[in-house]
Formats: sequence, C-alpha cells, structure tokens
Amino acid sequence: MRIDKLLANTGYGSRKEVKLLLKAGAVKVNEVIVKDAKKHVDPNSDHVTVHGVPVEYREYIYLMMNKPQGVLSATEDHHQKTVIDLLELDYAQFEPFPVGRLDKDTEGLLLITNDGQLAHQLLSPKKHVPKTYFAVINSEVTEADSAAFRQGVELDDGYLTKPAELNILKSGPTSDIELTITEGKFHQVKRMFEAVGKRVLYLKRISMGTLYLDEELELGEYRELTPEELKMLQSGQEVY
Ligand code: URA
Repeated sequence: MRIDKLLANTGYGSRKEVKLLLKAGAVKVNEVIVKDAKKHVDPNSDHVTVHGVPVEYREYIYLMMNKPQGVLSATEDHHQKTVIDLLELDYAQFEPFPVGRLDKDTEGLLLITNDGQLAHQLLSPKKHVPKTYFAVINSEVTEADSAAFRQGVELDDGYLTKPAELNILKSGPTSDIELTITEGKFHQVKRMFEAVGKRVLYLKRISMGTLYLDEELELGEYRELTPEELKMLQSGQEVY
C-alpha cells in the first residue's frame, strides 16, 4: 500500500496534508526518512512513524448508520445524495460501502464497511441472515397475514417467499408490525404486503443478524460498531 494512503487512512489528514508531512521529513519507515508519497509499505511488517510516534494501521472500518429517508444506499450517484456522502472524510477515505440496500424511503439500520468478506457473509442467500423491519401498514393486519407470511407468499414476479415471521404490534385502520425475513429480494417487505393486498406506509430496519439499531442514533447519524457487536456479527454464521 502507498505510504500516503496508509497515513490518510490512519487519520493523518487528507492526501495533500500527508504529502506535506512527508515533505517535512516527519515520516520514517523502518527508521529511514521517507519523502516519496508513492513509496509502497507493508503495514503488517514495516515500522512506520510520524514525528517518532508509531502509526497504528487498521484496514477495516465498521459503521452502523440510522439511515434517513431521501438518501440512496449506494456509494455514489451523480444526482442524488448517498449514505457515503453522509460520512466524514476520516471514514469515507476507507472507501466503505453499504451492506445490502435499503430503499430511498426506508429508514434504519445500515451497516457500512469496507470488509468485503463480512459483507458477503451477511448477504449470501445461503446464510439466511434474519433481518427485522418495523413497518406501518395502510390497513388492518390480521393473523391470516401472519399465517400467509409463515407459509410464504407469491410476489408479483411469481417468486414464493421463504417463511417469514410477522408480529402484529397494533392492528386497526393502520397497523404497526414487525416482520423478520431471511432473504433480501428487491423491495421485499413492500411486495410481501402487496401480495396480501396491503401497502407499507413507513419502513424501518431494526436488526440484521445479531446487530441491532442503536436507538440513540438520530436519523443520519452513525457510529463505529463496538468490539462486542463486531465479534458477534463475525461469528454470526454459527448463530443462524
Ligand atoms: N424491503 C423493502 O421493501 N424495502 C427495503 O428498503 C427493505 C426491505
């Protein structure tokens, strides 16, 4: 990895600022001053210091965001704001991406990381990672809907959904529910309700595998996962 990228990733400023540090002779690799921003270093074996202080390298970041409505679950878009646009540069420079997609009008738990292996583990259809959503539905949700979701419902393209758990929190002219699904088809929750003649008015993801949305996070806010949350998530395949 290039020395300027390593230093930018470890919080020594933008690439431009890092270049100045290098120019000033503040950076040493294995006790030798390095001024060339393009120099390649191995963060695992080379000893890098800035003003004599060892640089602690980290490769991955893991963020939990409470996604607001109106932003895309994508890394970049020419016209619309993405969840990555909401990150400070200190995090964005790790080039993270959202793990799976929430619709533009869906809120709630979104894991953002640059750890492709963990993302793959969580998204692989073979792993059946459960995702739980809170939703407001435009009409009365009944036990018949719970039974239908348990059996699997046919979506508009003929796909039969895997068994899902519907928990009715409040039933009435509009209903509050929680739905746990173990797959991630496009617009799945909305289409499952359409399959039983109902419409999702509001949708928020509250969990994914062992990871639960921190209710302290305001919409658009994010924080790093705690070591415990990360450990649970990484060992998750044994849980499901
Ligand atoms: N299901 C949906 O319909 N939308 C989402 O954003 C997530 C799940």
